[in-house]
Amino acid sequence: MVVFRMSLKLALALFLLGAFYPILEALDNGLARTPPMGWLTWERFRCDTNCKKNPKNCISENLMMEMADRMAEDGYKDAGYEYVNLDDCWSAKERDAQERLQGDPERFPSGMKALGNYIHSRGLKFGIYADYGTKTCSGFPGSWGHFELDAQTFADWGVDMMKLDSCSSNVTTYSKGYPEMAHALNATGRPILFNCKWPFVLPHYGMKINYTLIAEYCNTWRNFWDIREKWSLVLMIVDYYALNQDVLIPASGPGHFNDPDMLVVGDNGLTVDQAQAHFAMWSILAAPLLMANDLRNISIPRRNILLNKEVIAVNQDPLGIMGRLVLQFSDRVNLWVKQLSKPQEWAVVFLNRYPSPQTVSLSLQQLGLKSLSGYNLRDIITHSDIGYRDSSKKYKYTIPATGALMMRIHP
Ligand SMILES: *[C@@H]1O[C@H](CO)[C@@H](O)[C@H](O)[C@H]1NC(C)=O
Ligand SMILES: *[C@@H]1O[C@H](CO)[C@@H](O)[C@H](O)[C@H]1NC(C)=O
Ligand SMILES: *[C@@H]1O[C@H](CO)[C@@H](O)[C@H](O)[C@H]1NC(C)=O
Ligand SMILES: *[C@@H]1O[C@H](CO)[C@@H](O)[C@H](O)[C@H]1NC(C)=O
Repeated sequence: MVVFRMSLKLALALFLLGAFYPILEALDNGLARTPPMGWLTWERFRCDTNCKKNPKNCISENLMMEMADRMAEDGYKDAGYEYVNLDDCWSAKERDAQERLQGDPERFPSGMKALGNYIHSRGLKFGIYADYGTKTCSGFPGSWGHFELDAQTFADWGVDMMKLDSCSSNVTTYSKGYPEMAHALNATGRPILFNCKWPFVLPHYGMKINYTLIAEYCNTWRNFWDIREKWSLVLMIVDYYALNQDVLIPASGPGHFNDPDMLVVGDNGLTVDQAQAHFAMWSILAAPLLMANDLRNISIPRRNILLNKEVIAVNQDPLGIMGRLVLQFSDRVNLWVKQLSKPQEWAVVFLNRYPSPQTVSLSLQQLGLKSLSGYNLRDIITHSDIGYRDSSKKYKYTIPATGALMMRIHP
């Protein structure tokens, strides 16, 4: 389990020198070769356990099955979304007589294995939530003292992905405990994508984050606060990524990705342009694309954002590189650039943070794109070719209010 920590230039130099050896991956379970895509209960449905009052929206097997149906039938699966994930509040308040976790019997009457089977029958994958500590964040049983048993229970249910939260836990034990859970998952023999809430809390206890270590044991990891459906919070997460990009960019790659939290594209807390900008940013960051929304009645413009295959292709690019903030125009417009796997291809996001449209004038050279001639530009949000642009000449670009312009560029 050695983590690939070479710059591309160094890798290329070694390749040319004939000294190149196969890239040794991070967590060796074959999963998350590109950022995982799917759906997660949390931000939209949270901890609603009252099925008498809210039969359509409580955390239950019905909710999960309805979302699996929508994913399979409404184009999400075809676009690449595959994991259907439970977050907190699925379990009974107590473990069973053999100490195993169990689904709440009223909300999951068919049992967790049957739910897994249903999700698999729709050609999708089953994700579940657990907590590293003694209790989950909403007070359900935690996995502390039961790592092996819980990993095995989940494998028996056909679980394909596990989020391990960090409430009610002792942070000084993480560097031993998270690897223990990774070993427990591995020992089940079932490949289970492992999302860790490991780095997130460390700085709050004055501890340093070692992403090399974390990437050896986790496929994805949360490094910042929970998202809510608010533009200011989307920007706050983007700013954390910008501020820490020199550490976060090398941490990202096939098998191991930073997780800036769910996509809140779907309900009405963001305008359509804000939702578009949020999706563009998560794509250029090579972030997991886990939707937190109600797929049963999502509006058409928001559905179209989530199904934009050209933007998804940037997120799913096999190099798995996280984009970089390269330029800022005052405090209004941020320019992010991500290298793609086809030689000389790049994705660019112009993020307009400001509540009125902005026009910026710049040359591609200012973005670090140095082809001596120029580049062809394509707007991948509107699916239209912009045309050829000389590298050294300045051109004008207009970005919608609190929105984004996203382009794919090649010589
Ligand atoms: C367990 O780890 C070994 C060694 O890293 C790896 O080859 C194997 O694929 C892993 N198995 C699972 C199910 O994750
Ligand atoms: C946390 O774990 C450390 C050992 O890693 C132990 O020394 C300490 O007492 C624990 N703290 C609490 C509050 O349990
Ligand atoms: C970080 O973790 C790696 C892998 O376990 C280790 O080799 C390295 O020494 C650690 N770095 C620091 C600064 O502790
Ligand atoms: C979608 O339906 C749910 C359940 O009936 C409801 O609570 C929610 O407000 C609806 N959302 C929209 C955007 O219409």
